[in-house]
Amino acid sequence: ASTLGAAAAQSGRYFGTAIAANKLSDSTYATIANREFTMITAENEMKWDATEPSQNSFSYGRGDQIATWARNNGKQVRGHALLWHAQMPGWAQNLSGTALRTAAINHVTKVATYYRGKIHTWDVVNEAFADGGSGGRRDSSLQRTGNDWIEAAFRAARAADPNAKLCYNDYNTDGINAKSTGIYAMVRDFKSRGVPIDCVGLQSHLGTTIPSDYQANIQRFADLGVDVQITELDVEQGGNQANIYQTVTRACLAVARCTGITVWGVRDNDSWRTGANPLLFDSSGNKKVAYTSVLNAL
Ligand code: XIL
Repeated sequence: ASTLGAAAAQSGRYFGTAIAANKLSDSTYATIANREFTMITAENEMKWDATEPSQNSFSYGRGDQIATWARNNGKQVRGHALLWHAQMPGWAQNLSGTALRTAAINHVTKVATYYRGKIHTWDVVNEAFADGGSGGRRDSSLQRTGNDWIEAAFRAARAADPNAKLCYNDYNTDGINAKSTGIYAMVRDFKSRGVPIDCVGLQSHLGTTIPSDYQANIQRFADLGVDVQITELDVEQGGNQANIYQTVTRACLAVARCTGITVWGVRDNDSWRTGANPLLFDSSGNKKVAYTSVLNAL
């Protein structure tokens, strides 16, 4: 196969990218995105601040631009993200306790209902675990509404869109460490109690190294009975970039329940990591060595 999407499809997987709505009018960008990728994540346009700028007043224009582009070009959509402590609208930042909890669940229900049937997978909750050695939850206004806020969000999402796959998504979970183990314990608990969860997203914003147990970490989540996806892959440019991309790709392909990989942008100059040049196309839209290493590993 000669594109990432077609190569991933050979093993029944997808290859995706994050898309920014305001870049779809850039023909180099849109051409690469359409040619190479089969799953689309809105980089910012489906987040809480974008979709509910004032309380219970919803704004789907920019999210729809991406969903419509994806649909018109035969691509699936990963919804990102229903609840996250970052990019909350100002009004929600000013809430706490029961008022915040009610607003958050209302947000999940309304957005997942609006997009019902159009979203392959939702990142229901994003980045709710703490960095460092605690293995516990990140302190946030959402967490302070009660430790069960995550399961409440998953139940609301399932009720609103029963056919969407529901995912928990986080970063610094690229090996077996305290944070990924905390998430692992939550997923195991959800599965044992029948809380609806279908998948775990490993963002994989990587520097110049990759943990040696990257594949083993994917495997242990898969062994809990959930799918795994690499959801926001980017790798700092350095001597090892192509090798690291290839290691990630091989690891996913080695685990049957690792169902797809998404990179967090198209060209280096589209990346949120300014100066890292962490993507598969250079700023002129040329394929990098890392691109070829991924294509060859798929
Ligand atoms: C980033 C976007 O790429 C930026 O444009 C925005 O300014 C901040 O958010 N983890 C996530 C993504 O789940 O939503 C973040 O995206 C990157 C880190």
